[in-house]
Amino acid sequence: MRVNTELFSKANLARQAHVGDEVHLRGLIEISNHCRCNCLYCGLRKDNLRIRRYRMSPEEILAAARQTAEFGYGTVVLQAGEDPGMKPETIASLIERIKDLGLAVTLSLGEWDRRTYLLWKKAGADRYLMRHETAHPDLYSTLKPGKRLCDRLDSLETLRELDYQIGAGFMIGLPGNPEIQHQADLSLLARIQPDMAGVGPFIPNPDTPLGAFRAPSIEVTLSVLAQVRLTLPFAHLPATTSLEVLYSQGRRWGLEVGANVIMPNLTPLRYQRQYRLYPGKGQTGKAAANHRALMELLKGLGRSIGKGPGHSILWERRENIEKTK
Ligand code: 5AD
Ligand code: SF4
Repeated sequence: MRVNTELFSKANLARQAHVGDEVHLRGLIEISNHCRCNCLYCGLRKDNLRIRRYRMSPEEILAAARQTAEFGYGTVVLQAGEDPGMKPETIASLIERIKDLGLAVTLSLGEWDRRTYLLWKKAGADRYLMRHETAHPDLYSTLKPGKRLCDRLDSLETLRELDYQIGAGFMIGLPGNPEIQHQADLSLLARIQPDMAGVGPFIPNPDTPLGAFRAPSIEVTLSVLAQVRLTLPFAHLPATTSLEVLYSQGRRWGLEVGANVIMPNLTPLRYQRQYRLYPGKGQTGKAAANHRALMELLKGLGRSIGKGPGHSILWERRENIEKTK
């Protein structure tokens, strides 16, 4: 495939026109790598015995959240596998304490029941990330044994109904996906109209059953990202860690084809190394050095740092419409 520079500049212009030059920074804290699921692509799958499992204590999580605030980032993202050992009440009180720091809270903790989503919302959670992974129902159930795409979509609907800002998204180049350009995924995103879209390349992990497959090419990866921006002009779109892990310039390229969010990893390094969804993750070095490199990158690109919590533009609009009703 040829590099489609026309598509890239169209996506970059759309990004500039609809979400501006600000890049929103979200401090990512990987609070537990336990997972009850067995997704074929992911290193946290329960059958993978090659990682040491951890669960961060509330005090450790709060320390990382304080660091997020010190760096001036407006949001903390609490991410984990689907960990039944995490008590919903513990998470709720953690959310309350993080909100006291003046930060927005995004959750990425997998599928729970409505009561739990409500508990966390009442505790102050602002957003919930739950990628749909693939829009093909059969492939979804093959890659996520025991899970169904329709349940995932129901969860996203429930979260929206509870007034979360929601994030959907998928992996580019997932083995078994019949479409290189991900039309079905793009159509599904257009239907969901998420506030955020997490879209990054699949990276084969040798500790999983999909270890022998290949990652998508950079051309395909960037062109799909650009299409996501054009499909969702107002959404927050991160240049993902997977993009950065695959290509040393990945973050920059992502920001140049439509991305407007970066999620620097603030998980303590000893845990980050065990949060190994795919190889190369958790090798990013110390938070302070990463922060400096990121500031340099943004300066070089002429992009400013997002101020405040960086809420969803679509969600803020919906809120304003509600208020005037
Ligand atoms: N390559 C790329 N992304 C992955 N994820 C999980 N495993 C991989 C992999 N091997 C993504 C999934 C999940 C997110 C937290 O990480 O899309 O939703
Ligand atoms: Fe668990 Fe998520 Fe990994 Fe699946 S992708 S094994 S749900 S952490």
